[in-house]
Amino acid sequence: MATISPLILRTSPLCLWTPHSNKPLSSLPFFTIPKSKALSILCSTKMEGSEITEDVAENSGANEIVKKKIFVAGATGSTGKRIVEQLLAKGFQVKAGVRDLDKAKNSLSHDNPALQIVKADVTEGSEKLSEAIGDDSEAVICATGFRPGWDLFAPWKVDNFGTVNLVEACRKLGVNRFILISSILVNGAAMGQILNPAYIFLNVFGLTLIAKLQAEQYIRKSGINYTIIRPGGLRNEPPAGNIFMEPEDTLYEGTISRDQVAEVAVEALLHPEASYKVVEIVSRADAPKRSYEDLFRSIKQR
Ligand SMILES: NC(=O)c1ccc[n+]([C@@H]2O[C@H](COP(=O)([O-])OP(=O)(O)OC[C@H]3O[C@@H](n4cnc5c(N)ncnc54)[C@H](OP(=O)(O)O)[C@@H]3O)[C@@H](O)[C@H]2O)c1
Repeated sequence: MATISPLILRTSPLCLWTPHSNKPLSSLPFFTIPKSKALSILCSTKMEGSEITEDVAENSGANEIVKKKIFVAGATGSTGKRIVEQLLAKGFQVKAGVRDLDKAKNSLSHDNPALQIVKADVTEGSEKLSEAIGDDSEAVICATGFRPGWDLFAPWKVDNFGTVNLVEACRKLGVNRFILISSILVNGAAMGQILNPAYIFLNVFGLTLIAKLQAEQYIRKSGINYTIIRPGGLRNEPPAGNIFMEPEDTLYEGTISRDQVAEVAVEALLHPEASYKVVEIVSRADAPKRSYEDLFRSIKQR
């Protein structure tokens, strides 16, 4: 049975519309999708071993409901699971890439037929990631981050090589939309913040910010349509202010709710103004409320 979707096929088979605006999605860079994919509708779910899968049926009739599938890496993380929830709430299909399937079943609403959970460790190379992402994902959102532990190379393995592996998997598969959750201050040295305690702290432990910056540079050279989101300090609390968005290498302090970071990641998929951009975000009580179109448009491409 087809479920509610963000994308509704009208008049022409490739004229897709979003409920948030009156723009045809087929006019957006991210939504130049093959007709066969555009016409996929969700039919049923089933359990296969430890993996939750779903059946997708092709339907070529007009006025059909269609859904986009987004792969989320790091889907059991504090930001990743919020991204999954918000994508599902907006009617997307989600392929949640996780390291631990059991953990995912507890932390994600796996009874949602629009959610598929797959094993995906970003350190295991682009081949395995290609299999996890599959040929049915239209975009990748990367919300991974190394888990602190004894391995001093973990930031490089996850935040650098892991992200590079994801980008390579996208290239192999022809996935042309990539959203990365990075961090403010990744380029702290270049912006005169080399003595900023946060910059020092995060680099002392495994060169975390430098690892992230180099992964960003890899994405930017890849040719893939990217949006790199650099949030300030992440908070689990609900938003305490409006989103304040600035261009790269601007913000060096401030915090933001993970709910807002997830929202920016999802909205980036829906707004062509977010393409090929790096945005820095914090939450500020005194920031005016602005539309996402306005926020993304205010950032210049470099
Ligand atoms: N904390 C902050 O204040 C702050 C500020 C700015 C930017 N950031 C960045 O924002 C992003 C999200 O942060 P967060 O605090 O929400 O993340 P988090 O809760 O620490 O989650 C990190 C996610 O990455 C996954 N992960 C770790 N190693 C992996 C691997 N080898 N393969 C696949 N997945 C792996 C984890 O999987 P498991 O669940 O299996 O462990 C988890 O899902 C991170 O990149 C972080 O560096 C954080």
